[in-house]
Amino acid sequence: MIRLKTGSVTAGGVQMDNHLVLAAGILGTTGASLARVLSTGAGAVVTKSIGPYPHEGHPGPCFCEIKGGLINAMGLPNPSKDFLTELGPVNGRPVIASVFGGSPSEFREVASWFKGMVSGIELNLSCPHAEGYGAAIGVDPEMVESCTKAVKSLGMPVWVKLTPNVTDITRCGVAAERGGADGIVAINTVKAMRISTDLRRPVLGNRFGGLSGPAVFPIAVRCVYELYDACSIPVIGCGGVSSAHDVVEMMMAGASAVQIGSAVIHDRDIFRSIYDTLYAADGVPPDEIVGCAHG
Ligand code: FUM
Repeated sequence: MIRLKTGSVTAGGVQMDNHLVLAAGILGTTGASLARVLSTGAGAVVTKSIGPYPHEGHPGPCFCEIKGGLINAMGLPNPSKDFLTELGPVNGRPVIASVFGGSPSEFREVASWFKGMVSGIELNLSCPHAEGYGAAIGVDPEMVESCTKAVKSLGMPVWVKLTPNVTDITRCGVAAERGGADGIVAINTVKAMRISTDLRRPVLGNRFGGLSGPAVFPIAVRCVYELYDACSIPVIGCGGVSSAHDVVEMMMAGASAVQIGSAVIHDRDIFRSIYDTLYAADGVPPDEIVGCAHG
């Protein structure tokens, strides 16, 4: 397998220790867990999504494991502004705050709380199961552009996390770029559900959720590939990555950095093992790999 040359990385305006980033939603609710992931080889970490008001999330069950992945319907539970007290242990480290809102002004308000405390902001315009938030507004390119513009006016690096639950993801990617985004994250989860044949009811309390894990990896690769062609800003790959080989494949599709989420559930030290397989002092310069699958 190709190995990459070690060295620090800048993607979408954020300086990171390497190309591997903890995705939003997993191990991102406390400063201690974010610090632990950074200490086990992640180049940067993204927090759990924080919104304008404290919220408990959807009624349970909130997730179920399936062959090749898991479906979650957490419902964006978060303590809102109180989360800021968690950032102490990761002060000065590469941390990206994931934020959500129901309008451009709510996005700006929430993002403004993090000014001077994090390396960048990731806009959650893509959660597939939150009424009025996430993909409910992020499927509309005009809304993507306005929310991005509103947050970008704060002067911080802005990544926009996109939903794959659209006919053409590049329309939202191009809209984020028009709004001034520094990077595009692709993809959030794929809208999905399971039904309990015993109970004759949907398994999840919210009925629908978002599928993540290896099952969505080929969808994520396709979206990264399309966005790399359509946009000029860096694309950060996300979706079902669980090995160094997956990271290289995602980078060949066009990813400048790669997020890892669900895979940490089965291996808390996955960043260390991927890092050790992926990098070598005499490896290939990463720039030669990013987007090399394009003709
Ligand atoms: O419900 C959640 O917290 C998940 C968010 C997301 O998929 O973006």
